[in-house]
Amino acid sequence: MKVAFIGTGLMGEPMAFRLLKAGYNLFVFNRTKSKTERLKKHQAKVFDLPADAIRETSVIITMLTDFNAISETLFTEKISFKGKTLIQMSTISPKESLLLKNRIEENEGEYIEAPVLGSIPQVEEGQLIVMVGASKDNYNKWKKLLKNFGDGVYHIGEVGSASAMKLALNQLIASLTSVFSMSLGYILSNNVDVNQFMEILRKSSLYAPTFDKKLNGMLKRDFDKANFPLKHMLKDINLIHEEFLEKNVNTEIIERVKNILQQGIDMNLSDKDYSALFNVIYPKQE
Ligand SMILES: NC(=O)c1ccc[n+]([C@@H]2O[C@H](COP(=O)([O-])OP(=O)(O)OC[C@H]3O[C@@H](n4cnc5c(N)ncnc54)[C@H](OP(=O)(O)O)[C@@H]3O)[C@@H](O)[C@H]2O)c1
Repeated sequence: MKVAFIGTGLMGEPMAFRLLKAGYNLFVFNRTKSKTERLKKHQAKVFDLPADAIRETSVIITMLTDFNAISETLFTEKISFKGKTLIQMSTISPKESLLLKNRIEENEGEYIEAPVLGSIPQVEEGQLIVMVGASKDNYNKWKKLLKNFGDGVYHIGEVGSASAMKLALNQLIASLTSVFSMSLGYILSNNVDVNQFMEILRKSSLYAPTFDKKLNGMLKRDFDKANFPLKHMLKDINLIHEEFLEKNVNTEIIERVKNILQQGIDMNLSDKDYSALFNVIYPKQE
């Protein structure tokens, strides 16, 4: 089966590899062509224009940064979506997802959203969680393809609902990492044993596994291996802020987290792992 894969960044490239390994015939486009080299060596067909990658396929997967990147890539040239399905897998807002749905349907195509939870290691292990917003028929039609990314493929509801689920979960990623950073900084400032702090935390109901995933990086202040860059966490928090405000969910905490991430950008941490927000919350002590 021919699949067009658009966007081979940090997540897109390993996701495309999973489809190649599963035997799909991949038609790839990425704005920066050098990021398609490895896929090309493994028999993916690489194109200079998105329209050319899409022309011969009936399904298109996009894994681009945000709504603007998707719009620029898909709607700058005239592309026919007649008889094709767009599977949009980036983190965008429900409103943006519905705008894409309308645009694709006006072009006689079908649209499903399938944002993911998990990062590069989960892609490589085939353990991404895929949340699908689509009609039941479209979900059933594309479930098998999406299962290549992980067994956990969930039908959340119609288009918009999976994007909402994803934003709710990403709010937790940003907020949990921030509040953990505060306690860790305070423990360090008191010269209290970090191992003992973690041991007690792990035994309590306050524990979240993400704390251990980020602990070593924070202690070493090494955030160079960015599976999920800080700039994308800020992109998501901006979406979350706007969405929560609209739905009358109090956004005071989100505004603070947003401010912290913005300070991270000002400290040149944009491309570092998002857990580099620890450096904002508890700067290295002289
Ligand atoms: N990284 C994670 O752990 C993770 C986890 C879950 C969800 N996500 C979501 O998945 C999406 C992709 O994330 P990522 O980490 O793979 O990001 P990334 O490495 O920054 O890749 C972004 C992709 O979008 C393309 N792009 C950006 N702006 C563009 C534009 N104006 N026109 C055309 N192409 C453009 C980039 O092309 P170039 O190569 O030319 O820059 C690249 O292919 C994001 O929505 C992110 O929030 C990420």
